[in-house]
Amino acid sequence: MGNEFKGEAAHSADYFGDTRDHWWNRDYLALLGERWGLGSVREALDVGCGVGHWGMLLGEQLSPDAWVIGVDREPRWVEKAAERAAARGLGGRYRYVQGTAEALPFADHSFDLVTCQTVLIHVADPAAVLREMIRVARPGGIIAVCEPNNLAQAVMADATTFAGPVDDLVAMLRLQMVCERGKAALGEGNNSIGQLLPAMFADAGLLDLKVSMNDRAVPLVPPYDAPWQRPMVEEMLDFAEREYGLWSHDETRRYYLAGGGGEGDFAAHWALALRLVRRAADELRAGTYRVAGGVVGYCVSGRKPGR
Ligand SMILES: C[S@@+](CC[C@H](N)C(=O)[O-])C[C@H]1O[C@@H](n2cnc3c(N)ncnc32)[C@H](O)[C@@H]1O
Repeated sequence: MGNEFKGEAAHSADYFGDTRDHWWNRDYLALLGERWGLGSVREALDVGCGVGHWGMLLGEQLSPDAWVIGVDREPRWVEKAAERAAARGLGGRYRYVQGTAEALPFADHSFDLVTCQTVLIHVADPAAVLREMIRVARPGGIIAVCEPNNLAQAVMADATTFAGPVDDLVAMLRLQMVCERGKAALGEGNNSIGQLLPAMFADAGLLDLKVSMNDRAVPLVPPYDAPWQRPMVEEMLDFAEREYGLWSHDETRRYYLAGGGGEGDFAAHWALALRLVRRAADELRAGTYRVAGGVVGYCVSGRKPGR
């Protein structure tokens, strides 16, 4: 249990913990499978696959003889995804290759389904990546992406934050907004891209646009002993211990300054972020932390014209 990759240099390593296996309700994925028509998919591509969490979860909705290829820029994740697939007995159907989302190493019209999860939030030009995903899809094929609006997280207050100073909540929203602008300005992606995707899909000429939201909440109510609560508690305690207030100190500062924030304000915002993270950790340890959890996550699909 936990995150065997935390602290590694490769992209998103701190976010590849077991919590990622609990981001979805299985029956909701089955519903997405029906809505997206995944039963007829024979070859699927998982773009920015990381260590394979999303591709393997969505793969449960595909026919048992469907193939899944994952592609990621990081050689380390390609290797680990292949290992994880083999450990789950999926080695025959799942293959992983190194490549970038901006220049996918596949011929035009290769896949019935091209998908990604929390990848467009990290790329400099999401419309260009979407065009590339469409290029490698077969005519009539499905492009399906799941991406959040992370800005909403700043105002999803737990009981203590709700009862605390309004200015704290406003300051956290400001910190997140300035950092998200900075991350985008640095070419590292719009962390709340979910909100913009339906229009981007329409502009790209995709048909049968479908937009819904992940229905998974992650309620943390003592004693936090459900299988999906334990990894979440562990991750929150770990982030507090390693002083992650949003991102690490250096990363948050880098984004804040790039987003137009000043060095002087940053210190106060960072102190507040850390205070809130530590307070939540203290409440978790005391068994008094209570929150409904979950993220604002959009599921957006469209069909490539033709066929
Ligand atoms: C937040 S992780 C998501 C991993 C996986 N999709 C999941 O949901 O479990 C983002 C992944 O995208 C990869 N990535 C980021 N930018 C990329 C790019 N331009 N081309 C290919 N992969 C990229 C990172 O290496 C990382 O593995």
